[in-house]
Amino acid sequence: MMNQDELKKAVAKAAIDYIAPRLDSESVIGVGTGSTANFFIDMLAEFKTEFDGAVASSEATAERLKSHGIPVYDLNSAGELEFYVDGADETNDRLELIKGGGAALTREKIVAAVAKTFICIADDSKMVGILGKFPLPVEVIPMARSHVGREIVKLGGDPVYREGVVTDNGNIIIDVHNMDISQPIRVEEKLNNIVGVVTNGLFALRRADLLLLGTKDGVKSIS
Ligand code: A5P
Repeated sequence: MMNQDELKKAVAKAAIDYIAPRLDSESVIGVGTGSTANFFIDMLAEFKTEFDGAVASSEATAERLKSHGIPVYDLNSAGELEFYVDGADETNDRLELIKGGGAALTREKIVAAVAKTFICIADDSKMVGILGKFPLPVEVIPMARSHVGREIVKLGGDPVYREGVVTDNGNIIIDVHNMDISQPIRVEEKLNNIVGVVTNGLFALRRADLLLLGTKDGVKSIS
């Protein structure tokens, strides 16, 4: 039986198989963050002569891409992005996601917003009925930490400050436990409305377009 790393490699390979025939010499690919995305980056390196370069959703991903000799572009000068490929911390069967376990949620959300097709790659441990067992990450301007925490309590969540973590944007992360996320779009909007919140890790307003889910019976394509 496949272990979790083998499932992650299988979905990374499935993403390569999906995008490789659709690439040309001008293609720029959005690339996400995390262990599943890392497998994808390592496999992408074998195709580096067949596309132009990548936009990274984190400093860590930019470093890994560059270490393979894949050019990394600033999003503002990259032009169109056909694909964004990234993992997730949780997904439901509507392809609404929780992301940000690696604290990269803001850049991930920006790149996902720009890309035409968001391909999520995940093993089936990430599939849930209702989102929220995984604490929902929220990126917050440091001086707003207490205010945002109080507002999250009013919304029914338990905010926990992720100590020692500073995002690539110089902000902090609050992880929200025990929140009712049966209506992901509403929760995403409510959190966005709190002053001092930069981004929350719900990807429901812009969910994935294609989920490649690693299971013991093979990779399932869900769209
Ligand atoms: C990064 O901030 C997250 O959104 C990642 O997509 C998430 O943590 C998935 O990581 P793994 O692929 O390591 O599970």
